[in-house]
Amino acid sequence: MTRKIAIFDTTLRDGEQSPGASMNTEEKLIVARQLIRMNVDVIEAGFPISSPGDFKSVAEIGRIAGDRCTVCGLTRAVDKDIEVAAEALKTAKRPRIHTGLGVSPSHLRDKLRMTEDEAVERAIHAVKLARNFVDDVEFYAEDAGRADQDFLVRIIEAAIKAGATVVNIPDTTGYNMPWAFGARIADLRERVDGIEDATISVHTHNDLGMATALAIEAVRNGATQVECTINGLGERAGNTALEEVVMAIRMHGAELDAHTDIVTKELTHASKLVSSITGMQVQANKAIVGANAFAHSSGIHQDGVLKARDTYEIIDPADVGAGGSQIILSARSGHAALRHRMGELGFTFSDEEFEDIYQSFLEVADKKKEVYDEDLESIVHERERVSTAVWNLDAVQVSCGFPLTPTATITLTNMGGETFTECAYGTGPIDAAYKAVDKIVAVANDLSEFSVKAVTRGIDALGEVTVRVTAGNGEVYIGRGSDGDIIVSSTKAYLNALNRLISDQQK
Ligand code: KIV
Ligand code: ZN
Repeated sequence: MTRKIAIFDTTLRDGEQSPGASMNTEEKLIVARQLIRMNVDVIEAGFPISSPGDFKSVAEIGRIAGDRCTVCGLTRAVDKDIEVAAEALKTAKRPRIHTGLGVSPSHLRDKLRMTEDEAVERAIHAVKLARNFVDDVEFYAEDAGRADQDFLVRIIEAAIKAGATVVNIPDTTGYNMPWAFGARIADLRERVDGIEDATISVHTHNDLGMATALAIEAVRNGATQVECTINGLGERAGNTALEEVVMAIRMHGAELDAHTDIVTKELTHASKLVSSITGMQVQANKAIVGANAFAHSSGIHQDGVLKARDTYEIIDPADVGAGGSQIILSARSGHAALRHRMGELGFTFSDEEFEDIYQSFLEVADKKKEVYDEDLESIVHERERVSTAVWNLDAVQVSCGFPLTPTATITLTNMGGETFTECAYGTGPIDAAYKAVDKIVAVANDLSEFSVKAVTRGIDALGEVTVRVTAGNGEVYIGRGSDGDIIVSSTKAYLNALNRLISDQQK
């Protein structure tokens, strides 16, 4: 059996410190329920002395967690902080006090204004006080990543002797290279007396984009707890992303001699939940949970994924609750992807028909970033309309605006290949276009209905127009047309209705 790596989630404490990400107690409870469902080992629920809201959240989360996970409250190495945290954690079945202080030269000199001896004394006092309230005390050596290593060894050893069950080695400023941070952990394991009786935890930040690499290198060197947040939420560039660490350990468990107990199928849901509650968007290309994490856009990749998913995916999207791989249809998509999606929509074509469809698809794709299913349906329907047409639209040009008179120039070709052009003016550009069509087609009719709807999403959506025209004999004909330009789709719809009317009359 590989080593169990405990997942300590601090979304509700360090994550919430991220500018603009604050949550109220109700919201924190929703996130906490999801963390429990995912099977995290520890929830850092807040910093009880910092506000009545944080105190309440820690108490409420302690109540709902029961014995499913440890609930932790943060403190400074200050008596009052520890007493208040102990009070908030009274509801928890498995309480942990997380106490500590800065240990780097800059923190000791500029922030705490303490000597190393004073810091060690303070650490011992804080851990001992916390142990009076709870059996599980975690000591953090803030900014350990920039500390003098001999001093780090000294203060960690003192904290363990004072009763710390877990020692947290944070790279608070995300300064380290992974190998240097790993070496610090290995050195602590070698030199700290009693370290084998404590859990080594790591808490890394993403200032150089290396938070996950730092955590994994620490695991490789003996850490057995990782502190992280959903979506990597946290101060400045954020904390280690829970989903990244969990999946990296899952993918490379054998070489790391490690596993976690996280229910990975809950990762995508957790990400969306935290993003919607905090309003902090997840970048589309974010590992594991970004909108594009399993989306394939280029023709070569789409072809590969359609043949075998693992040509371009190392994770099965279902394993993280992300549904399936996505084939994004765009101007870069090839025949294989379009044929595949059309097949899924129930359309089959001969090779010749398909080539035609592919050309229409490229025309739409050139105008739009992404081509949706509704666009594909429109392309197919538009093609059916054109293939049965008596008159085809070659060109439409309008000029309108204030104080211009709306005018339209229309060019149509009939089945015999003859081309006609006419101009007209009207009450608006569509009315002008319809009048120009009437001049060429010359068939009596009455336009009784006109409606327009966007068939796809976004500002570049295709607009589908539906019209009803009534012939002289009272028969009603429906026409439809779609295009990114509403004047063009309106003209196509009108022509489609007239084509049907004329075909009927010819029959
Ligand atoms: O980044 C850090 O060092 C922290 C500590 C309070 C654990 O968040
Ligand atoms: Zn932190």
